[in-house]
Amino acid sequence: MKFLKIKMVFFTIFFVACSESNNFKDNGVVVTRHHLASDVGAKILKEGGNAFDSAIAVAFALAVVNPSAGNLGGGGFVIYFKNNKLFTIDYREKAPIRSSRDMFLNPEGDVVKGLSLESYLASGTPGTVAGLIQLHKDEASMPLEKLIAPAVILATEGFKLSEFQAQYLNKYAKKFKKNKEAEKIFVKEGGWRKDDLLIQRDLGKSLSLIAKKGSKAFYDGDITKKILNDFKDNGGIFIKEDFSSYEIRKLEPLCGTYKSYEICSMPPPSSGGVAIIQMLNILENFDVKNFSHSSLEYIFLLKNIMSFAYADRSVFLGDPDYFNVPVDKLISKNYARKIAEKIKNKETTKIQPGMLIKESEETTHFSIIDKWGNAVSNTYTLNGAYGSGIVAKGTGILMNNEMDDFSQKPGYPNLYGLIGSEANKIEPKKSPLSSMSPVIVSKDNMPYLITGSPGGSTIINSVFQEIINILDFEMSLEESSNKNRIHYQWQPDIIFYEDLKPEVLKELEYDFILRKRKLGEIQSILKTSEGYRGYSDLRRPDGKSIEIH
Ligand code: GLY
Repeated sequence: MKFLKIKMVFFTIFFVACSESNNFKDNGVVVTRHHLASDVGAKILKEGGNAFDSAIAVAFALAVVNPSAGNLGGGGFVIYFKNNKLFTIDYREKAPIRSSRDMFLNPEGDVVKGLSLESYLASGTPGTVAGLIQLHKDEASMPLEKLIAPAVILATEGFKLSEFQAQYLNKYAKKFKKNKEAEKIFVKEGGWRKDDLLIQRDLGKSLSLIAKKGSKAFYDGDITKKILNDFKDNGGIFIKEDFSSYEIRKLEPLCGTYKSYEICSMPPPSSGGVAIIQMLNILENFDVKNFSHSSLEYIFLLKNIMSFAYADRSVFLGDPDYFNVPVDKLISKNYARKIAEKIKNKETTKIQPGMLIKESEETTHFSIIDKWGNAVSNTYTLNGAYGSGIVAKGTGILMNNEMDDFSQKPGYPNLYGLIGSEANKIEPKKSPLSSMSPVIVSKDNMPYLITGSPGGSTIINSVFQEIINILDFEMSLEESSNKNRIHYQWQPDIIFYEDLKPEVLKELEYDFILRKRKLGEIQSILKTSEGYRGYSDLRRPDGKSIEIH
């Protein structure tokens, strides 16, 4: 009898588990910022590949069709869901072994303008190839060559530029002209036009090498030699060991709760996970549903919450291998309650205005889910648009300018106006602090919202508002993505906004700056009653969500 009972319990559990996985009737969704990369990712899913196969193919394809941010010469973060568990790969760039704290300062101790952005000193050791190859090794089901093949074709045969891309390349012509290799590939006499073919033969060769030889091609092979030679000839400081000793990190995902949801993202060296969880913890102390979206009260609430998170970011966040980041304290509910009390009591200090945020909004995010429920949330970057604008000779690979994400001097603002401190000073082999925030929100142990954004310092706030719009205001992905966003980062003491009513603006006692449709560019997937749905933010054209039926 007892045996029968155990057997019945076993069968009941088995039946529930099976019926749950059978209920997963979606065949997958791919959302990226470029339609050709989305096509590549969707094709892989249709051919039976999993979300990881699709993500690898998409990331290599974006390196070709979205050269301003997709990359081989940069780095990023991926968080993914598999078998009810979350995993991450940190493939952020690392400072060269010969780098030093004051490398961007002149003898007087002043920051040399541009050195961390457009020179051979601007790049950290890229991590993208190592990250994607690790993901392949751990989770893929298809051969690497197959997954890189679409990118090779797009690079060697070329692809048609959209109007937006043609104009964007033209906008950066001056930057490309500072580097012969970049000029050769990315500048066209008379300017690019819509439907012109962008052919990147050297990049195609580099991709083929990686397809055949894997990580070794990039970190200890032909591509390494070319990068090292070019950097040596032009005042760079990379040495062989920068590449041969590069290692990704598999970090524990950083998770918090918001109401009945679990919110997971990257731990440091991303500041995104900490800041988003901290802000949601603070928000939990307010009845946000009673606020009217974009009202004066709502804007002030967000602004105050953002101010605490960004102030903490500037002091406490850096690479955890080099600085003891007080993560537990920053994301504790108790700490959030104390901050909420201060906000309620109007104890928020007004801080002196700093520098303005410049206009670069690069980086790119994609979200993928497959028919088995595996989910990938990936953000990667070259930092500024087209990185340093330097293509390593003979490789077709644009190099990052991620060294600018370090604090070059305490209090000195980076490209995004962010300031840093000791926690984020330059040290050999250290990763600079990032704002990239790939997120997976789960409900009942299944991915509910897979999201992320480009936008430098604005990434964190864009993703934060996407989460509130969906979880609290119950918006659809389309509504949420099209809703106006605000951005506030403590310093400079300015509210950036996309669209607010004149009466709200009049009442704001803060300086404010209009950033028309320029705060973030979300690529999200949401679980709805009809299954998983995707949406590509319209703030930039060219993105595409593909749902597989
Ligand atoms: N380079 C932008 C970021 O990592 O936040």
